[in-house]
This record gives sequence, C-alpha cells and structure tokens, in this order.
Amino acid sequence: MVYSRVVTPPLRIGPIEISPPIVLAPMSGVTNRTLRALYKPFGFGLTVTEFVSSNALQYGGKRTMEMIDQHGVEKPVSTQLWGNDPQIMATAANLVRECGADIVDINFGCPAPKVTKTEGGSACLRDVDRCEAIMKAVVDAVDCPVTMKMRLGWTEADLVFVEVAKRAQAVGVQALTLHARTAKQFYKGSADWSKIAELKRAVDIPVIGNGDLADPYDAMQRMRESGVDGVMLGRATLGNPWLVSRLRALMADEEPAPVPGAPERLRFAVHHYLTMVEEWGEPRAVPQMRKHLGYYLKGFAGASALRERLMRTETAAETLAILKQTIAQLEAREPELAVA
Ligand SMILES: Cc1cc2nc3c(=O)[nH]c(=O)nc-3n(C[C@H](O)[C@H](O)[C@H](O)COP(=O)(O)O)c2cc1C
Repeated sequence: MVYSRVVTPPLRIGPIEISPPIVLAPMSGVTNRTLRALYKPFGFGLTVTEFVSSNALQYGGKRTMEMIDQHGVEKPVSTQLWGNDPQIMATAANLVRECGADIVDINFGCPAPKVTKTEGGSACLRDVDRCEAIMKAVVDAVDCPVTMKMRLGWTEADLVFVEVAKRAQAVGVQALTLHARTAKQFYKGSADWSKIAELKRAVDIPVIGNGDLADPYDAMQRMRESGVDGVMLGRATLGNPWLVSRLRALMADEEPAPVPGAPERLRFAVHHYLTMVEEWGEPRAVPQMRKHLGYYLKGFAGASALRERLMRTETAAETLAILKQTIAQLEAREPELAVA
C-alpha cells in the first residue's frame, strides 16, 4: 500500500512552523533537556518539557528551574505547565517564557493521583469553566502561542473534549493535542482515533493526534484518516528514536531507512549514557539511565539476562564496560543477542 505521494505540510502554531509535524510527547521523568536534544535530530519538529507544576514555580527550586530552562535547546521548544489556579498559571507562564519557551502548553491530561488530587491535570476536565479561566489567563499573560493537551474527559460518561476545545479556541489557544483516552482509563485499552478525527472536525485551530503510535506507516495512515495537522509520539520512541526518522522519511515521501540492528542501538545508548553523565553528573545519571537502557534493549531476543545485569550496576564505568562488551560480541556476530 502506498501511504504517501505528497510531502506532509508543516504544522503551524501561530507564527511558529513545525516541520516535520512530529512532536515529542512530554513525559515526566523522561523528556529532560538531554533526551530532547539527543532525540530532536531524528526528526522531531517540536519537543516539549516534562510537565512542570505552576505552584512549584512560585518557589523557584533548583530542580524545577532546571526543568524549564530552555536556553541552548534547539528551537522551537514548548514548556508544559500544570495547575488549577488561573492566576498562578499565568504567572508561571510568564516565567517559562522568560526561560526560553517558544510555546506554553497547558496540561489537562495527566491522570496521576498525585496531580488529580489537587484538581490539576486531567481533573481540570471535571470543570470546564475552570479550564476556560486557566486558558484565558495564560493566553492573556504571554506574548507567545499557548497550546493545550488533554484527554477525552474524566470518564467515558463525561467526554468534554469538544466543549473544552471550542472554549480553548474562543480564548485564543492556538493548537490542541488530544491523547484519546479518558483519565480513568490511564493507559488501558487503546487510544480512540475516531475521537481525534471528531475533534479535528469541530475546531479550526491545529489538532495534534496522540496515542499508541508505534509504527511509521500506521502513524501516516492515522494522520490521513483523522485529518490531523500533526502527530505526537511518546512511549514508542523511547529507546527507538529511529521510529521518528522513519516517519520523517515517509512524510517527505522518501523510503524509510531500515530499522537499525542491535549494535547501532546500543552504540546510541552508550552515547546517551555518556551525555547524561557529562550533563547531570554520575550520581544522578546512573539511576536515571537504568530505565533508558531497558528501553534500548526492548525487542532484543535474549536480552533479559543483560537487562538484569545492567539494572544492578552502580557506576557508569561498570555499565559502560558491559555495554561495550556486548556491542563487541554483537559485532563479532556472537549469537547471544540477535535483534528479535
Ligand atoms: C512516563 C510518562 C510520563 C508522562 N508525562 C507526561 C507529562 O508530563 N505531560 C503530559 O502531557 N503527558 C505525559 N505523559 C503522556 C504522554 O505525553 C502521552 O500522551 C501518552 O504516553 C500517550 O502517547 P503514546 O502512546 O505515544 O505514549 C506521560 C507518559 C508517560 C509514559
């Protein structure tokens, strides 16, 4: 089946052109500056920070300020905020703009109890008037585009996404991302792309579709069928940024390069590891990189013993020695680790 005979146009958010129209999903604990800088060249047109608490920003703690510092990160960049107080959100939006954000994104999607118990994230969707007040306050506060990311609603019985989207458009929000699950679903079931198509038909501002995109051909097809202006990819890119370069090729009407084999993936994992150690220091990098190594090993036949060894290492030198030995074995075509 031929999926693309035309080059996919860029996504436009206000004056900002996002090309290709592929967005790296904000992922708390994952999409720090280092990961975004390493993954962007694979073909993301836009990257988004982890969500940042607008309340925490009032106190300016070191860790919070690190999350919003966008200086030196390849543009355009978006900073995502969560909170439930319009004024605090507006003040936070001003601050993140000063710290280099080209776009301010509002989170109405997070289903985590630690966020929803304070009426933030997806819990905002239980009160559409509050959603509107937050969006208006943020739009009025900053001189850059404001976007919003949401779920379908709190439960299946309250699918407020079209109502919230219309209010977003009315107050001047310039693009919307829909992760097509309800908050109560967390990550269960599958994202309902028919709802993303419904949203696209309901508003004039750009819509970015999100949820379960794990294959470049499937992403192209869903983009076509739903009519969205862009796609956002999250979990499936972790340890596999080549998904994005392959999708970028399809969007440019080119043949995607083959999926890289195990040695190339592990060489990139080593590069990721070394960059993390350099930028964050070994005590912070080592525990953070454990989960990433797990991602890079996903889909490798026979990787579970290797994964277990890597989860137990305490130093960068120990971890890198195991990785380098594995790469050498793979390159010598030793059979322990073949790509599944
Ligand atoms: C570890 C993790 C952290 C996440 N953190 C955020 C976040 O900070 N802000 C947000 O809007 N969504 C967050 N999400 C949701 C993703 O942005 C995305 O909507 C979701 O994973 C569905 O897309 P996917 O199927 O491509 O992963 C997170 C998801 C994961 C797996």
